[in-house]
Amino acid sequence: MTEITVIVAIAQNGAIGKNNDIPWHIKEDFLHFKEKTMGCPCIMGDKTYDSLPDFARPLPGRENIVCTLDKNYKADGAKIFHDFDEAITYVKEKNVPKAFVIGGATIYKLGMGVADVFELTRIYHDYDADTFYPAIDFSKWEEVNKEDHEGMDVKNKIKVKFSFITYRRKG
Ligand SMILES: NC(=O)c1ccc[n+]([C@@H]2O[C@H](COP(=O)([O-])OP(=O)(O)OC[C@H]3O[C@@H](n4cnc5c(N)ncnc54)[C@H](OP(=O)(O)O)[C@@H]3O)[C@@H](O)[C@H]2O)c1
Repeated sequence: MTEITVIVAIAQNGAIGKNNDIPWHIKEDFLHFKEKTMGCPCIMGDKTYDSLPDFARPLPGRENIVCTLDKNYKADGAKIFHDFDEAITYVKEKNVPKAFVIGGATIYKLGMGVADVFELTRIYHDYDADTFYPAIDFSKWEEVNKEDHEGMDVKNKIKVKFSFITYRRKG
């Protein structure tokens, strides 16, 4: 059984992106993302794939799986699916222990419907954004772990508090 995990960092006001980029740069959160996802297939939208910095596109050490409705879309070093459900079936048929859904907003919306685990970095600060996380129905999720941290957001030169919170789907 492949466990599907949605992993995301969300600001206090629901922000996740601006100008096809992440509005903050918190080293601890990038390391957390790397540590959690390393070695596992990562499913993402084409906009998120395009937004990765050159040194991290494709994400090293992980199978990169890109979802797009654009039949002409090309992504070097990634496997492309034109249907999110087919990407999920593909990772499940590989029978790997874990696979991740890594964004963005469009793909998270689909991922929340099928995920077993939800890895949330909650950043306790509001950010200016054009992309927001879809509404979360917390009645469906049980918190199983929470770690509080504080660190530098070097993009905005501010100190921020954040928590790594793990939820499991109830029932
Ligand atoms: N804070 C975080 O942790 C985090 C993580 C990842 C990304 N982000 C941010 O999120 C933003 C990008 O999010 P986004 O929502 O604009 O783009 P996205 O989710 O990366 O990509 C969406 C793509 O998926 C396609 N799509 C829609 N439904 C599909 C389906 N059923 N099967 C296959 N493909 C499908 C869409 O096609 P159409 O365009 O044709 O509809 C679109 O091209 C960026 O700002 C990025 O930095 C933040």
